[in-house]
Amino acid sequence: MPEIRVALVGVGNSASALIQGTQYYKDAKENTTVPGLMHVNFGGYHIRDMKFVAAFEVNKDKIGKDLSEAIFTKPNCVVKIADVPHLNVKVSSAPIMDGVAPHMREVFNVYDEKAEGSTDVVQVLKDTKAQVLVNYLPVGSREATRFYAQCAMDAGCAFVNCMPEFIASNKDWAEKFEHAGLPVLGDDIKSQVGATILHRSLVRLCLDRGVIVDETYQLNLGGDTDFLNMTVEERLKTKRVSKTEAVTSLVPYELPTRIGPSDYVHFLNNKKICYITLKGRKFGDRPITINAKLEVEDSPNSGGVVIDLIRAAKIALDRKITGSLLSMSSYAFKHPPIQVPDPQARQWTEDWIAGKRDR
Ligand SMILES: NC(=O)c1ccc[n+]([C@@H]2O[C@H](COP(=O)([O-])OP(=O)(O)OC[C@H]3O[C@@H](n4cnc5c(N)ncnc54)[C@H](O)[C@@H]3O)[C@@H](O)[C@H]2O)c1
Repeated sequence: MPEIRVALVGVGNSASALIQGTQYYKDAKENTTVPGLMHVNFGGYHIRDMKFVAAFEVNKDKIGKDLSEAIFTKPNCVVKIADVPHLNVKVSSAPIMDGVAPHMREVFNVYDEKAEGSTDVVQVLKDTKAQVLVNYLPVGSREATRFYAQCAMDAGCAFVNCMPEFIASNKDWAEKFEHAGLPVLGDDIKSQVGATILHRSLVRLCLDRGVIVDETYQLNLGGDTDFLNMTVEERLKTKRVSKTEAVTSLVPYELPTRIGPSDYVHFLNNKKICYITLKGRKFGDRPITINAKLEVEDSPNSGGVVIDLIRAAKIALDRKITGSLLSMSSYAFKHPPIQVPDPQARQWTEDWIAGKRDR
């Protein structure tokens, strides 16, 4: 039986949606369309081939719990879509580093690392024979992300970077993975139908129809810990870069743009609201304005993309691909090593799965 052994850094809402989704679709029939996944059988791997083997956390209520319970522990607030059976994976205590901003210490319920000591991450990855390490650290975790990327290499794991620190899209880090003989996929997950893909599609529409886009902005509101963490501007520098470049990279001229998380509204919980405005000129220099509003449950929006990414990471390991996996990264991330229009990225990925592209 094929098997993909997965380890997680951060057991927050995204990890919860991923694990629940894996359970929800475990009996999905091949050659059917499943919302949010590219394929039920992705290059020979079914969703149920994924096995979670390790998880790292700093929340004292999550550490030591079985992963099946930790994913439903507060402050997680993602909707429940599946009962998850006992997974026999005890959540390990993680090095805190810069994963927790001062204003998040209380809400993340951080354990006493000095008194209790953190786990040897590389040893846990080796002991559990993890093959793919998925990074779900909070935005702004610069040092911690680099630490876990290095742990992945030291333990022989592929690295899937779901958040906006630049690893797969950074030349030096991509080379490190190349030298380690391992694949890296990133950076910053692009949700199924989220703010980024919607914004990109509207800009693409204007360009395809000969509209000059003069200015655009995107405002995002949410009420979970991801949004609370991002209320401190200095933690979200890379997030703004990632989200802005995802849009401006499509446009062959300078485009005044403002994009980013904009407000924390606690009662929204895991719901995210996004407003996009785009102003431009069409025939005869006549004005055109497009306003769009998107309302989604944020975490399930990325769960399926990550299920596809984990299977891509395993295929990359099987094919001994080293360094950045370009096709899948362009398709699935906001800040990949190479930005191309989304239909092209999808075609690259299909070709890569079929063995018609190297990476
Ligand atoms: N739609 C999406 O869900 C989506 C899309 C794009 C990017 N992301 C990114 O994915 C990341 C995770 O998102 P989330 O919604 O799960 O956030 P979250 O706040 O729910 O989860 C983050 C978890 O990391 C834990 N943590 C903090 N420091 C740690 C450390 N040093 N080691 C291990 N764990 C630590 C926290 O306790 C928390 O449980 C964020 O950076 C987010 O921006 C999510």
